[in-house]
Amino acid sequence: MMENMNQEYTIEFNDVTKSFGEHTVLDHLDFKIHEGKITTLLGFSGAGKSTILKHILGIYHPTEGHIKVLGKELINMTDREIREFRTSFGMSFQYSALFDSMTNFGNVAFPLKEFTKLSDKEINEKVLDLMEQVGLEEHAHQKLPSEISGGMRKRVGLARALALEPKIMLYDEPTTGLDPITTHMVDNLIKTTHKRNAHIPMTTVIISHDINATLRISDYVAFLEKGRVVEHSSVEDFKKSKNPVIQKFLELSL
Ligand SMILES: Nc1ncnc2c1ncn2[C@@H]1O[C@H](COP(=O)(O)OP(=O)(O)OP(=O)(O)O)[C@@H](O)[C@H]1O
Ligand SMILES: [Mg+2]
Repeated sequence: MMENMNQEYTIEFNDVTKSFGEHTVLDHLDFKIHEGKITTLLGFSGAGKSTILKHILGIYHPTEGHIKVLGKELINMTDREIREFRTSFGMSFQYSALFDSMTNFGNVAFPLKEFTKLSDKEINEKVLDLMEQVGLEEHAHQKLPSEISGGMRKRVGLARALALEPKIMLYDEPTTGLDPITTHMVDNLIKTTHKRNAHIPMTTVIISHDINATLRISDYVAFLEKGRVVEHSSVEDFKKSKNPVIQKFLELSL
């Protein structure tokens, strides 16, 4: 299949430096994320992973350098354009960040009510479809998030994140704090969701500490150290990395 060269990367960090006062968190970072693939960003705590996500979302701006997302320079956008632009993202947080006072159904319907002109009937159908995609059983739809398990809440959070058919799905430590079985379920869900949305095509970016899951579900792995990406390769090549820090990370995580 012919690849459109312009579409090859969904997200591009070009020589990006981010400093908070004296503290440089991203240091002349060059990092390009492949369109339609699953890329996982690894690195020790404090390496700057979440900071990268915040730059992708336009929450943080680089001190130097520039960032292109979906072909657009973030720096040139007005606040209104940024808000519109954020609807191209699905975000999944560690704690599902659902609205506690709304039913699970209401949570998933929320972005559709807020950002689309769909009728109530269309929204209803769409929510049912999303609930099915993530495997949330019907008896849970009218319950509150507090009335279902953590694993189920993950499904609701994911359905809500998928509602606007995002081109980019971002997961910041999606399985931290979950038991091994739920972790496995969430990892599979990330992979299935990615595959199901290949037609968009969906680009998936995951921040993770879970090396085993990373190697199992990702296409590409990037390793962040001291504000730079020191390795960015396919899973196969990553496993063979000669970088001593990565070898250590691989060992510690096994
Ligand atoms: N708004 C801010 N002001 C000052 N320092 C910040 C700010 N945001 C992030 N930092 C600093 O940037 C560094 C990287 O933080 P970040 O949250 O990106 O790390 P991380 O790789 O996501 O770590 P973890 O694995 O623990 O989540 C930290 O030293 C943090 O204190
Ligand atoms: Mg973080």
